[in-house]
Amino acid sequence: IRLAVLYGGQSGEHEVSRRSAESILAGLDRERYRVTEVLIGRDGGWHVDGRPVPLPLALRVLRAQDVVFPALHGPYGEDGTVASLLEWLGVPYVGNGVFASAAGMDKGVTKRLLAAEGLRVSPGVTLRPDEELSPAEQRRLGLPVFVKPARAGSSLGVVRVTDWAELPAALRQAREVDPKVLVEQGARGREIDVAVLQHPDGRVQAGPPLEIRVTGAGFFDYDAKYDGGAVFQIPAALDPATTQVLQDRAIRAFDALDCRGLLRVDFFLPTQGSAEPIVNEVNTFPGFTTASQFPQIWQQAGIGFATLLDILISGALV
Ligand code: DAL
Ligand code: MG
Repeated sequence: IRLAVLYGGQSGEHEVSRRSAESILAGLDRERYRVTEVLIGRDGGWHVDGRPVPLPLALRVLRAQDVVFPALHGPYGEDGTVASLLEWLGVPYVGNGVFASAAGMDKGVTKRLLAAEGLRVSPGVTLRPDEELSPAEQRRLGLPVFVKPARAGSSLGVVRVTDWAELPAALRQAREVDPKVLVEQGARGREIDVAVLQHPDGRVQAGPPLEIRVTGAGFFDYDAKYDGGAVFQIPAALDPATTQVLQDRAIRAFDALDCRGLLRVDFFLPTQGSAEPIVNEVNTFPGFTTASQFPQIWQQAGIGFATLLDILISGALV
């Protein structure tokens, strides 16, 4: 099987994508796959197996594959732009299509689609350039709020605001990443991720919930994500009914966004009583190093990394 791993990209998560691709490249069974590496540089330049190439040549290389494995995070990759390119080339590819990728990349749009599905989300306000949060909206959301670039990942540009006086600076910071921002009521509770995997026969499975415990001060930000500032507990210590609710909501999110192949749904689980879990966000191509949440969850469920890759690739080829 001729397979290209497509990684890098122009988003702030370029480095994260390189790490995901490194694990994927190391995990692929080389007897089964003839692998080509296609790297998109931070500057948008294309490289095939380490050599810089003009775009038309890179596209010919992609078109000559049996399947492409996009391992891109963030805008210009995980947001449907690359899925669209692969659709045009007519080459099968792993994971989510144009719509799910685009909808899942935009936190404001995701929130509206999931709320329409009846899933619980935190109240939030999308602010376009030059828009401000009105006093009525401030009162409705209350403090703390999280200010987030609408389309980004790995918590880049995310600021926690505990005093309204900090809001203008937080908006400026988020707008450096994306002119469209989301101001969201800070959800409280345990932070739980659920991985959803679609098997080649179409069956959609939710894995054992993972709990994130941030070891330092603050929230699960870029540094906590990539500098060992958090530990994962799989399965999270939850009663069976709560586990079932989380898995059900994750699969409903997968369906609501028309996903294919995979999705990681990140929740806050209120600690009081049996309250409905709050969907914080989704990731249409979640972090994919062997130590990242998604592969770790499946490892725990008995699906090792190489098998996970086979399932996703086979799903793209049916
Ligand atoms: N956006 C990063 C890669 C994640 O959610 O895992
Ligand atoms: Mg994310």
